[in-house]
Amino acid sequence: MWLDHTLTLWLDHTAGGCFAWHTERPNHETCPEAAMTHTIEPGNPEAPTTPPETLPGGQPAVTAGLVPAALKRRVPKYSDLAPLMQFKKPEFSRAARLRRASTIWELRDMAKRRTPQAPFDYTDGAAEAEITLRRARQAFLDIEFRPGILRDVSKVDLGTEILGKPSRLPVGIAPTGFTRMMQSEGEYAGSRAAAEAGIPYTLSTMGTASIEDVAAAAPDGRNWFQLYLWTDRDRSLELIERAAKAGNDTLMVTVDTAVAGARLRDVRNGMTIPPALTLKTVLDASYRPAWWFNFLTHEPLTFASLSRYTGTVADLINSMFDPTLTFDDLDWLRETWKGKLVVKGIQTVEDARRVVDHGADGIILSNHGGRQLDRAPIPFHLLPDVTAALDADHSDAAVILDTGIMSGADIIAALALGADFTLIGRAYLYGLMAGGQAGVARAIQILEKDMVRTMALLGVSRLSELNPDHVRLLRT
Ligand SMILES: Cc1cc2nc3c(=O)[nH]c(=O)nc-3n(C[C@H](O)[C@H](O)[C@H](O)COP(=O)(O)O)c2cc1C
Repeated sequence: MWLDHTLTLWLDHTAGGCFAWHTERPNHETCPEAAMTHTIEPGNPEAPTTPPETLPGGQPAVTAGLVPAALKRRVPKYSDLAPLMQFKKPEFSRAARLRRASTIWELRDMAKRRTPQAPFDYTDGAAEAEITLRRARQAFLDIEFRPGILRDVSKVDLGTEILGKPSRLPVGIAPTGFTRMMQSEGEYAGSRAAAEAGIPYTLSTMGTASIEDVAAAAPDGRNWFQLYLWTDRDRSLELIERAAKAGNDTLMVTVDTAVAGARLRDVRNGMTIPPALTLKTVLDASYRPAWWFNFLTHEPLTFASLSRYTGTVADLINSMFDPTLTFDDLDWLRETWKGKLVVKGIQTVEDARRVVDHGADGIILSNHGGRQLDRAPIPFHLLPDVTAALDADHSDAAVILDTGIMSGADIIAALALGADFTLIGRAYLYGLMAGGQAGVARAIQILEKDMVRTMALLGVSRLSELNPDHVRLLRT
C-alpha cells in the first residue's frame, strides 16, 4: 500500500544522524529532534517514490530482505579488523614532526611552541592594532575561485621567469631582519632552502648573516639583496658593491620605512635585540630549551653586513631608517646599480607608475607585512588597478606582491589578478622557527602542493593560463 497523503520524513535521532525512514510518527515529547521535518507535497515531480509500509501478507518491509546485507549488524571477525590495524611506531624526529604540518598555520603553531614569546611576537606581530595584517590576510579569503572543467591538468607547471631569470615556483623569500634570532640557522636556512627549491632568496640589510656568508652558504642559489637606502651615499655604495661582488643579480630597495612602525607587541614584551636574560625570559627558556641552547651556543647576533659600523644595536636600527630620502636618491641608485632594481613598499597606483618612470625594473606591492603604517592599502586590493595602469603605460616592469600570503591558493589568486611573482615573509619564518632549514623547506613544499592542487582544480596547467576571470572578488 502506498501513502497517498503528505509524506513526512523524520530524521532518525538515535545516533545524531539521518539514517532511517520512520513509518510511524515518533513521539515529539520523548523525541524533540523529530520535530525537524522536511515536507514534500504530493504531485511534486521531485518527490521520492515512497517505500511500502508492509508487503502483501502483512510482513513488515524492513524484515523482508529490503535492508541490504551490508547494513545488517554483525560481530566483527579478527580477519576484518587485521587490515584496519595500522599502529605505527611513534616518530619524534624533526622531519616527522614537520611532516605533520599540512598548512602554514600548523607550522605557525609549531613555531609558537618552540620559540620564546618575544622573538615569536616580533615575527608574528605587526604595527599598532595590526589591522593592516589582518585585512591583508582576509583579502585573500574574500574571493571566490572560478574553476574551468574538463581540462587536462595531469601535469601542472609552476615554473616562471622573474627579472630575467627562471624560478621553479612563482614565489621567493622576502627580506627579513634578525633572522637568526627566530631560529639559530637563520639566513643560512632560508637561502639554502630557497636554493634547493629553485626560488630566489632575499637577504636583508638587517640580516644576521653577511652578504658574503650567505653567498657562500647557497652558492647555487639566486640571491637578491635588500637595501635600506641612506642619503649617506658612501654607506649605501659599500653595500651595493659587496652585493654585486657576491653575485646578487637583483637589488631590492625598501622605501616604506621613513621611520619605524610602532610594534606594540615588542613594547609589551620588553623586546630587546638581542633578547636579554630577565626573570621572564629565563622562565620562558624552561619551556623552550632547544631555542636557548642554540641561541647561547652560536655566534652572537649582529647586523652581519654592517659589522664595521660602531654603536649599539638600537643606534644601528635607528640609523637604518632615513626620513630624508627622495626620488633623487632613487635616481642615484638607478645610475649606480647595474643589475635589476626593484622598489619595495609601493602602496599606490601613482607611486607604482612613478618608480617605473624612474627606471625600476620591478615594483613590490607591499605594506611591509603590516609592520609599518597601520590601516595601509592592501597589496592584493591594489593589484588590478596597478597592473591596468602599467599596461596602459606599456610598461614591462615586473609586478611582485607580498603581505598576507599564508597558502599557495593566495599566491595563485595574486597571479590570476596580474602579479608576476610573490614573496613570503612570515610563511617561511614560521617554517624556520618550527624546524630550521627543514622547516623552511616544509613551508615551501606546503605552498607548492597548495598551488598545484589549486591550479588543477581551476582547470589550469600553466601559470600563463591564469587570468582575472579565475577570481571573483567578494568584497573589497
Ligand atoms: C620579522 C620580519 C622582519 C622583516 N624585516 C624586513 C627587512 O629587514 N627589510 C624589509 O624590506 N622588509 C622586512 N620585512 C617585511 C618582509 O620583507 C615582507 O614585506 C613581509 O613579511 C610580507 O608579509 P608576510 O609576512 O605576511 O608574508 C620583515 C618582515 C618580518 C615578518
